Amino acid sequence: MGITKERRSLLVSTAMVLFFFNIHHLQVMSCPEPAASNSTSCTDQDRKLLEFPLNLEYLEAEFFLFGALGFGLDKVAPNLTMGGPSPFGAQKANLDPLTRDVILQFAWQEVGHLRAIKKTVKGFARPQLDLSIKSFAKVMNDAVGKKLIPPFNPYANSFNYLIASYLVPYVGLTGYVGANPKLQCPASRKLVAGLLGVESGQDAVIRTMLYARAKYIVHPYGITVAEFTNKISILRNKLGKKGLKDEGLVVPKLMGAEGQISGNVLAGDEMSLAYDRTPEEILRIVYGSGNESVPGGFYPMGGDGEIAKSYLVKK
Ligand SMILES: *[C@@H]1O[C@H](CO)[C@@H](O)[C@H](O)[C@H]1NC(C)=O
Ligand SMILES: *[C@@H]1O[C@H](CO)[C@@H](O)[C@H](O)[C@H]1NC(C)=O
Ligand SMILES: *[C@@H]1O[C@H](CO)[C@@H](O)[C@H](O)[C@H]1NC(C)=O
Repeated sequence: MGITKERRSLLVSTAMVLFFFNIHHLQVMSCPEPAASNSTSCTDQDRKLLEFPLNLEYLEAEFFLFGALGFGLDKVAPNLTMGGPSPFGAQKANLDPLTRDVILQFAWQEVGHLRAIKKTVKGFARPQLDLSIKSFAKVMNDAVGKKLIPPFNPYANSFNYLIASYLVPYVGLTGYVGANPKLQCPASRKLVAGLLGVESGQDAVIRTMLYARAKYIVHPYGITVAEFTNKISILRNKLGKKGLKDEGLVVPKLMGAEGQISGNVLAGDEMSLAYDRTPEEILRIVYGSGNESVPGGFYPMGGDGEIAKSYLVKK
């Protein structure tokens, strides 16, 4: 299969435009030709990588729907659950009008993401999720290194809910960054780029809302919002076991963009590129166990799909 005539003339005219526009841009043309795209030959690896994030999208959809409305997929899109069990312990959060409005938008976005993924891969039923106060309280205890009293309740108020939300889209975001280079088919990469764009946006909104109150002390723990985010990020780095891929809202200047600034409203590496994570790293984090073979945390029975299941010890 050679390059088609239209494709060749497109390349030629593109090259000419680039030449006249700015000769340096010609470097772009030296990229190797991508493999011929053929939607029917999209690989099994793509399928596995595309179904994996359903684990996170189910969690996000349920957490945001419940937080804003007090009910979840069982009511708004029962088909999408494919008969999977209802989440444990999710509830309506006590949110101020702005936060509720934003979270409700995120909730519907997550429903869209579930539909988008399922349009491409068959996927799997909603896994058992544990969105109880206890489940979040445990993450926060692990993050701060002591038992918070009373237990951290994500549903108690807008602050707590946003701090709990800090846990959510960012992990998905790093997963999409990690998956993208492993995908073979343009259609898969397009889907992942589309998901990544909106997940990053959600993360940015949550971080900005928290950043505006970075110095606020979360009652009754005597810990500032910024410290909470720092400690959560440190915990995730520890559980992921692949070094620094997570940063709080205020960092040592050296870690900020170009080593110039300690405000860190968005996380990024030394060139301010988003960090990537593999499915294994993500499982270690969302299970809270630091081990992709030891389920727990938000997924008491483990995640679903071939990648997650391949690590679960058969009982
Ligand atoms: C696309 O892939 C399928 C399955 O591998 C193959 O049978 C078909 O010939 C391919 N089509 C093209 C245009 O390459
Ligand atoms: C959802 O379920 C309804 C009723 O059972 C059905 O008509 C519809 O096609 C389903 N939609 C999807 C996307 O599966
Ligand atoms: C992860 O858990 C499995 C199953 O319990 C165990 O065999 C394995 O050694 C653990 N891995 C690490 C790195 O602790």
